Amino acid sequence: MILAIETSCDDTSVSILRDDAFVLALISANQDDSHRPFGGVVPEVASRRHTENLLPLIEKALSEAQVSWKDIKGIAVTSRPGLIGSLLVGMVTAKTLSLVHGVPFVAVNHIEGHLLAALLKDAAYGPPQGFDFPYLGLAVSGGHTHLFHCEAPGKYHLLGQTVDDAAGEAFDKFAKMMGLGFPGGVAVDRGAVNGNISAYKFPRGLMHEDGLNFSFSGLKTAALRQLESMTTEEKEKHKADLCASYQEAIVDVLVEKLQRAAGTYKLKNWTVTGGVSANSRLRAKTAEAAHKRGANLALPPLRYCTDNAAMIGIAGQYKLKAGMHSPQDLSPSASSLPTDWLKP
Ligand code: KG4
Ligand code: ZN
Repeated sequence: MILAIETSCDDTSVSILRDDAFVLALISANQDDSHRPFGGVVPEVASRRHTENLLPLIEKALSEAQVSWKDIKGIAVTSRPGLIGSLLVGMVTAKTLSLVHGVPFVAVNHIEGHLLAALLKDAAYGPPQGFDFPYLGLAVSGGHTHLFHCEAPGKYHLLGQTVDDAAGEAFDKFAKMMGLGFPGGVAVDRGAVNGNISAYKFPRGLMHEDGLNFSFSGLKTAALRQLESMTTEEKEKHKADLCASYQEAIVDVLVEKLQRAAGTYKLKNWTVTGGVSANSRLRAKTAEAAHKRGANLALPPLRYCTDNAAMIGIAGQYKLKAGMHSPQDLSPSASSLPTDWLKP
């Protein structure tokens, strides 16, 4: 059994996994209320909340899984990418517990966790039949928009990524411009219900360029111009159309590049993960594309899509099984390391 800790951004999360990637406990503390007054995540506030939340969550997870420290054979912790102060809380805790209980700890790249979430299991979820490596993985969240060919555990070919904003950031910024609150992605998703996806012509960044990178800054600027030309009453009246058209511009590009990559790299297993994979339109359009192309699509439940420690646990398990441990002097890093990913 393994204990996993995730504190890379604003969610404190702890999980306990059995050897076969079965999740025995997953407990997270959401910090949205602490950051809402600022309209975004405040790094200093995030690390303070992690410091308060983490140890009680570990106690709670152990008791929920009905295990004690003598059952825990390793600790997995997110070491990168993320907010340094937040990562530091998780890492110092993992290192200390590793020394106290005499078990190894292993550092995990947060994005690797997102990619492996599809393979987690619990009483209600398991990957679809036949879903395994190699697979195509799209990790879309507030901090990243990355497309990978996942060849095997630890072997991830980075095919494309955003050159500016992440998809979730694009959702959040639009929500802020529209006054829909924080975090904004889910508000745009809800607002778009019954909206006309073609009411406003928003640009699809890099959609028709070769390559598998993404760009969302042009979309954000176009939306800002559109909103500046409207009165508050007009924005309110056309809220559903604005949300639907904006959302469609993001989803179109994500699904197009996913399909293009699947064709180029001949991958029949696909997964979409990260907070943005909660988006109802993205889920529907990806499922439709997979059906059309005969692909096996894993859309993990939300508890494994948004930031969570279970996904860090499964990544850590693969590493520990491969004999990998991390040294006590390892530091967190705000970004991924060049050695984390392989070339396409
Ligand atoms: O993976 P996650 O929980 O944290 C990060 O690593 O960033 O993703 C959070 C992001 C936020 O940008 C949030 O607005 C977005 O996921 N999100 C959504 C939806 N639910 C969450 N975006 C679009 N539609 C949603 N339903
Ligand atoms: Zn994430």
